[in-house]
Amino acid sequence: MGKVYIVGAGPGDPELLTVKALKVLRKADVILYDELVGDEIKELLRTTKAELIDVGKRAGRHKMKQDEINELMVRLAKEGKIVVRLKGGDPFVFGRGGEELEYLAENGIPFEIVPGITSAIAVPAYAGIPITHRKFDPAVVFVTGREWRERLNWKALANLNATIVILMGISNLKNIVRRLIENGKNPKTPVAIIERGCSRDQRVLVSDLEKVVEIAEKEKVKAPAIIVVGDVVRLREKLARFLQNLKDFDHADVDCRDDRSR
Ligand SMILES: C[S@@+](CC[C@H](N)C(=O)[O-])C[C@H]1O[C@@H](n2cnc3c(N)ncnc32)[C@H](O)[C@@H]1O
Repeated sequence: MGKVYIVGAGPGDPELLTVKALKVLRKADVILYDELVGDEIKELLRTTKAELIDVGKRAGRHKMKQDEINELMVRLAKEGKIVVRLKGGDPFVFGRGGEELEYLAENGIPFEIVPGITSAIAVPAYAGIPITHRKFDPAVVFVTGREWRERLNWKALANLNATIVILMGISNLKNIVRRLIENGKNPKTPVAIIERGCSRDQRVLVSDLEKVVEIAEKEKVKAPAIIVVGDVVRLREKLARFLQNLKDFDHADVDCRDDRSR
């Protein structure tokens, strides 16, 4: 019997892979990786001895279904292979890692979890936005922007005095903003959208709840992106000039509050 490692790859910068993730990748026989795993990390995978399977590939918009991925992991482990299931960010932050583990457990497959650095924290950080700060809200909430999550209590969310970090929210931005404002969130609350964070293509838009939809449409913002709603976004203005994380890349920056768009 082999073994499955469920591994978080972090948000894209290969240097944000953990030492443990790297160790596991080096001993893997097969690596099943997602679309969200950064391009530079995909390059790094090619230097391992493992067989690489792109389970996020969208040939004609079709990507491998979750059931197929689950079955493939089980089959490979039963063949005695060391399997790495490599996922963007952290496997358990809206990453279906929990579902995969359930399936492995139901099929008697031994596994190990290697947590990753989630985009929910690292992407704002690379954009100069600490998701908490003692001067601002005393809580932080991670939210999926997918429409089907109707179970969310928007009233509570809007009134929580929390930094709200939204993943998978771009296609639903208009609804999210409407619901927050309708439920009492101040329309002047600062908002940042960080597209392709922690990569050479990172783009940061800063606005407020009232104007963000218009600006995101104008700038044609695309997934993957993180939306941060809260006063902590203000810190970026002070920090960005000295921030060195992506200094070697000419990444775009759109600050829509004072029209410094370029
Ligand atoms: C299916 S969720 C997976 C999140 C992942 N498990 C994590 O912890 O980062 C995918 C969403 O994560 C966010 N995301 C992941 N990587 C990102 C990046 N490099 N830049 C911006 N957003 C990212 C986007 O909101 C994207 O739609």
